[in-house]
Amino acid sequence: MKVAVTGATGFVGSRLVQRLHDAGHRIKVFARNPERARKVFPESAFKQVEIVGYTPQQSGDWQSEISGCDGVINLAGEPISERWTPERKQEIMNSRVIGTEKLVEAIGKAAEKPKVLVSASAIGFYGTSETAEFYETSEPLQQDFLAQVCHSWEKAADKVTSYGIRLVTIRIGIVLGMGGAIAKMLTPFRLYAGGPIGSGQQWFSWVHRDDLVSLFLQGLTDENMSGVYNGTAPHPVRMAELCDTLGKVMNRPSWLPVPDFVIETLLGDGAVVVLEGQKVLPERTQSTGFSYAYPKVEPALREIVVE
Ligand SMILES: NC(=O)c1ccc[n+]([C@@H]2O[C@H](COP(=O)([O-])OP(=O)(O)OC[C@H]3O[C@@H](n4cnc5c(N)ncnc54)[C@H](OP(=O)(O)O)[C@@H]3O)[C@@H](O)[C@H]2O)c1
Repeated sequence: MKVAVTGATGFVGSRLVQRLHDAGHRIKVFARNPERARKVFPESAFKQVEIVGYTPQQSGDWQSEISGCDGVINLAGEPISERWTPERKQEIMNSRVIGTEKLVEAIGKAAEKPKVLVSASAIGFYGTSETAEFYETSEPLQQDFLAQVCHSWEKAADKVTSYGIRLVTIRIGIVLGMGGAIAKMLTPFRLYAGGPIGSGQQWFSWVHRDDLVSLFLQGLTDENMSGVYNGTAPHPVRMAELCDTLGKVMNRPSWLPVPDFVIETLLGDGAVVVLEGQKVLPERTQSTGFSYAYPKVEPALREIVVE
């Protein structure tokens, strides 16, 4: 296949491109800074990767590069793990909503249209709760900022179906892999001061990065898939259990509660994702027969945490 990928240089995207490349596909990486992207995917190791420079929030010549691709994967978005100044909030929203609109516009204009768009969203769609369970069919409980972003992001992607193109939307949970949010959470544990974060009662709906990438790849090729799928593991845990497991895996005591301000310093306003959570279950994902390499959190953490 020839696959177009936005947000390819990031935490999820770089692993996804690696897997596509290993499987023998050709990849068009759409990147804001092509030189930087070439460093992430050096020609010597990524012969089948072509880099296309683009301006995600503006129509332009780059859009013609979509024609001839068999599938498109959309991961681009301004990181949420910084202080949310008004400007950054606007960029968190625009990078996803306008960025997706322009990508869909490109698909609409393409002479040779792709068959499928696999587009990211997030479990922030559902709002937060200590008691509710959320499935793909659940309505959001709140309309906080992240829920609004996810709603508008998904709506922007939906338009692609008007061109007769299959749309798979993946509501991503907290992705566990080397780097990412967990790397920052490990810092207090490494300093022997790890423990429950926040009340400990909040839900942590996680997914191992390898499983998430497999789900995106399945979305690309499985013609029976369309609509929304939760990109989370089938066994979410409460934060207290996550921290206990982390302590066990790292051979560190896990008893000293980590004050909210430490996490806020590490994760910025994005800390809301780990200080308040939601219990998300991947019911539709499992109904596709998707098989998880890491359904449970302890083996997932053991794979990631190398001392
Ligand atoms: N990681 C998680 O736990 C998690 C959880 C839920 C949802 N998600 C979503 O999944 C997607 C991928 O996550 P990730 O962890 O791989 O993110 P990431 O490491 O921050 O990478 C995102 C990529 O998006 C592009 N990007 C960054 N800022 C942008 C902007 N202002 N406008 C347009 N593009 C921009 C960058 O690619 P270029 O510089 O090459 O253009 C970057 O490599 C994101 O949209 C994220 O919101 C992630």
